[in-house]
Amino acid sequence: MGLRKSPSKMSQKIFIKTFGCQMNEYDSNRIFDSVKKIGFEKTDNYEDANCYLLNTCHIRDKAKEKVYHEIGRVKKIFRSKQKPLVIIAGCVAQAENQEMLKREPYIDLVIGPQSYHKINDTILNYAQKKKKMEETEFDAISKFKYFSKIKNEAGKVSSFLTIQEGCDKFCNFCVVPYTRGPEYSRPFQKIIDEAKYLSEKGTKEIILLGQNVNAYNDGEKKLSNLIMEIEKIADIKRIRYTTSHPKDMTEDLLDVYKISQKLMPLVHLPIQSGSDKILKLMNRKHTINDYLYIFEKLKKINSKIEFSSDFIISYPGEQENDFNNTLNLIEKINFINSYSFIFSPRPGTVAADLNLIDKKISVERLEKVQNKLFENQINRNKLFKNQTIDVLVENLTDDKMQTFGRSQYMTSVVFNGKKEHIGKIVPVKIKKFNRTTLFGEIVEDLNKKVA
Ligand code: SAM
Ligand code: SF4
Ligand code: F3S
Repeated sequence: MGLRKSPSKMSQKIFIKTFGCQMNEYDSNRIFDSVKKIGFEKTDNYEDANCYLLNTCHIRDKAKEKVYHEIGRVKKIFRSKQKPLVIIAGCVAQAENQEMLKREPYIDLVIGPQSYHKINDTILNYAQKKKKMEETEFDAISKFKYFSKIKNEAGKVSSFLTIQEGCDKFCNFCVVPYTRGPEYSRPFQKIIDEAKYLSEKGTKEIILLGQNVNAYNDGEKKLSNLIMEIEKIADIKRIRYTTSHPKDMTEDLLDVYKISQKLMPLVHLPIQSGSDKILKLMNRKHTINDYLYIFEKLKKINSKIEFSSDFIISYPGEQENDFNNTLNLIEKINFINSYSFIFSPRPGTVAADLNLIDKKISVERLEKVQNKLFENQINRNKLFKNQTIDVLVENLTDDKMQTFGRSQYMTSVVFNGKKEHIGKIVPVKIKKFNRTTLFGEIVEDLNKKVA
């Protein structure tokens, strides 16, 4: 195995591959911030790595199989080379723990999401003793304490910032309460410190993250307080949060939309189904009316606010009329940018063994929902044609010929900007669009408009 015994003295290279949600992306960055302290550099090239870390997701389908498949690929690549240290992190690691070490001897270490504070010690220990290990305790407090001492060096124009982890809601279909553990909110001041540091490093947009981000609660302090405190950081121009639960959309949070200048007008609020019967079967703890109340209140505050959502199609028990209710709801709310998947039974959850809806029917329903959602997206983008919109510029496009940024609604925008526009909000006149992307030209009177 290619890992040196005392990595702190020499440079080692780590390749990190990330599946799953934004929280995994944030975690992968933080894992790198940590292993840097024991001498690791990041590589984007598999073959250069002497440590290969796979940050996994367990939310749907054959998540476990995907991991073993990926390990098979790594094995092939390294057949004629020295074996890298192979680490499995993330939600599959948490769910499968020691089983992974037994089933695939090529794996050396397994580490769950609430044990990342132990990653350096685990690696150093392995380098010396060659002892395979599994770390899957739920210890969010120690993890965040550890990471609050290590700077978040992501420094991207748009940066993730995890404020809350875990879930106590136990929707019947979902593995998250089992893979991320109970709800834990980070201390308010630590989050503000991290936001300030990100801002010093060039971040202009902060996306606050949590499996139930709006359940954030540190004593008296809630998500609404966090947003308003981050708002005070002059160089942070945009604030977003994801993923929220309808039950935790409290009045104070809705009221922030009246006063905040930086909170973006896109609310990602998963509803899962348009049928109260199905929401009950899912154990979602909210009704369609609860959702409509939030929608109507926010629209009244600012008619430009748009909603996006997550849908689970063909949850066991979903009949044609339930499904039609979902279509009707999509029509009513006019969601933009939503995610939809066929229900996938997850081991260990309440819904794991329920009778599945016929595959053909499920695929047809998914297609109908997606057609409707895609149509909404196209129609929304059409409205931007010939409009000038504010774009936060994130980077150059891959071919380096244009610039890439995002609208207030998170829609990708490609336009003829320059390197010096990166990190700025610039006015772009939209000339063309497709379902996912707007294409335009910068409006040149930059001295006046660039923020
Ligand atoms: N906490 C968020 C909420 O309350 O909706 C969702 C977090 S979950 C990581 C992201 C999305 O995955 C869910 O909104 C749901 O649509 C989808 N999902 C979760 N479990 C699923 C399953 N078993 N089958 C299909 N989709 C699933
Ligand atoms: Fe999963 Fe979200 Fe339900 Fe929690 S609230 S169990 S994370 S879907
Ligand atoms: Fe996947 Fe875990 Fe996120 S299961 S969606 S990586 S919380």
